[in-house]
Amino acid sequence: MTQTIIVVGAGHAGGQAVATLRQKGFDGRIIMIGDEPYVPYERPPLSKAVLAGEMELERTFLKKAAWYPEKQIDFRPNTLVTSFDRRAKTVTTSHGENLAYDKLLLATGTRVRKLQAPGAKLENIFYLRAIDDTLAIQKQMKPGAKVVIVGGGYIGLEVAAVAVKTGCEVTVLEGLERVMSRVVAPEVSEFYDKVHTDAGVVIKTGMAVTGFEGHGKVERVLCADDSSYPADLVVIGVGVLPNVELAAEGDLAVDNGIVVDEYCQTSDDNIWAAGDCTNHPNSLLGRRLRLESVQNAVDQAKTAANAMCGELKEYAEIPWFWSDQYDLKLQIVGLSEPGDEVVIRGNPADRKFSAIYLRHGQFVAINAINMIKDFMAAKKLIAEGKHLDPVKAAEAEVALKDM
Ligand code: NAI
Repeated sequence: MTQTIIVVGAGHAGGQAVATLRQKGFDGRIIMIGDEPYVPYERPPLSKAVLAGEMELERTFLKKAAWYPEKQIDFRPNTLVTSFDRRAKTVTTSHGENLAYDKLLLATGTRVRKLQAPGAKLENIFYLRAIDDTLAIQKQMKPGAKVVIVGGGYIGLEVAAVAVKTGCEVTVLEGLERVMSRVVAPEVSEFYDKVHTDAGVVIKTGMAVTGFEGHGKVERVLCADDSSYPADLVVIGVGVLPNVELAAEGDLAVDNGIVVDEYCQTSDDNIWAAGDCTNHPNSLLGRRLRLESVQNAVDQAKTAANAMCGELKEYAEIPWFWSDQYDLKLQIVGLSEPGDEVVIRGNPADRKFSAIYLRHGQFVAINAINMIKDFMAAKKLIAEGKHLDPVKAAEAEVALKDM
């Protein structure tokens, strides 16, 4: 009998999963359900080249729209899965349909964390996660516009770089004492703070936003220290939350993410999960974690698709991330922790350096800025659990791969 696989979520993980299923020769029915109007696309360019108007939307699509019918993938855009019934093996959609599955993949991703403050619903206050968000921000981001950005993380700083290049007056209000503190060393935060400041962005750290004022549209952002910032538009990037409610209501194990094993299997034998929404084990890191990264979405989607085809290949990868701001390519491998020893290779003044993280001498993570060779070497060395001498590691003239 023909099998049916339903994929909930048409983001990077969902899109990769259906591609891998067909590549593996799965010839049953595939239904992919997504709440956005678009075929699966890459999100990273949305806060970079797409926002800057340097990349056409279609180039973000993982596969052209025509590919899905060609491969007999029944793609349902603009549709939410509202519940599923594990015993009956059906999902219910926002259009009132009941669809039967043999196997189910949850690739529900994350959603933006909303700032709860008076005035937060005024017009021209934006978040950036989806194509339509980028298009809406782009419309308002005209030269001379006053742009206030709340959150000095990936979204905030990438948007700041594009906005200031567009000719906007840009202010970033970061809650903590330094920008990008979740993912980079203090030396790297300091470097990015200076780069943005030199480009004309005003960066304020340790700021608590208390509200927004305006008549219909936002006009001002208010802070706890009684300062206020005039704004034509506000972009908020204060992190994301995993979409786990559907899984929890379906009685699957959930704990800061949908709990899966190394093959992306949930607590139900017929249900898998992949991407930003999962809490998964990683034997290379020796712990469970939830990750917000393209690498994880792609690799877990492949693992889940393989497992659904009966091929068990453990998911265990060293995580990696990147961010493009101005002429700077920041590439991150591994997960650093407070207390790691940080070694700087190269000179930040040359806009080309790396921060290497050692934990009891073991190379565990890197922030490489315009240091592609370090990034490539680090992927291998970190996975091998290599130990480095901190004095040698600081010698930028010695290739990391030869250490
Ligand atoms: P983030 O976690 O990278 O940064 C959020 C920033 O907002 C942090 O610096 C945090 O301290 C600050 N913050 C939190 N609450 C605040 C408040 N009330 N007031 C002021 N600042 C506050 O999250 P972000 O930038 O929103 O990105 C969301 C997700 O999008 C990321 O998890 C990432 O996976 C993804 N992303 C990745 C990119 C990349 O890899 N280059 C680029 C853009 C987004």
